Amino acid sequence: MNTQLNQPNISFREMHASDLDAVMQIEIVNFPFPWTAGNFKDSINSGHICLLLEIDEAVIGYAILMMVLDEAHLLNISVSSAWKGKGWGRHLLNQMMQIGREKGCLNMFLEVRPSNVSAITLYESIGFNEMGMRPGYYPAYNGRENAVLMGVAL
Ligand SMILES: CC(C)(COP(=O)(O)OP(=O)(O)OC[C@H]1O[C@@H](n2cnc3c(N)ncnc32)[C@H](O)[C@@H]1OP(=O)(O)O)[C@@H](O)C(=O)NCCC(=O)NCCS
Repeated sequence: MNTQLNQPNISFREMHASDLDAVMQIEIVNFPFPWTAGNFKDSINSGHICLLLEIDEAVIGYAILMMVLDEAHLLNISVSSAWKGKGWGRHLLNQMMQIGREKGCLNMFLEVRPSNVSAITLYESIGFNEMGMRPGYYPAYNGRENAVLMGVAL
């Protein structure tokens, strides 16, 4: 019996402009104030690490990493609703941290809304610590929301 027949094919690959329809389908569901396709294009054109996580060639998640000297900054991480809570966000974040290490970065930073409990729980479980607060960083329905700045040594 071939036990590999039902094994899903899981892979990371670089994001291209042609992937943005699939990316935006996830982005607009996941964020109340989503990035635009133009924001993703800017990241691709700027040379940021723009990674897709695919299962059987369907995009189920993505992350964007900006590197400046020895600092890595996670600008976006997102997993499709149907695939949340199954460990894929952790897998994606670990991959971005590994890329940061391989590129010689010493620390990784990110901003997160204080209300985003699932993301903060993930970051803390991986070793991120709160480094500070950025007042009024995010748009919100009732004005602005602060960002928690988190960081981890790579
Ligand atoms: C944040 C996000 C990427 C996590 O991805 P995910 O695949 O759902 O997360 P995982 O299944 O890998 O879970 C990893 C850990 O996150 C935490 N977590 C995930 N979902 C959670 C929830 N609903 N409540 C509390 N903690 C949660 C847990 O610590 C979990 O570890 P455990 O399963 O061992 O308990 C995903 O929820 C997402 O795309 N959210 C919308 C976009 C977003 O907010 N991105 C972050 C912007 S800063």
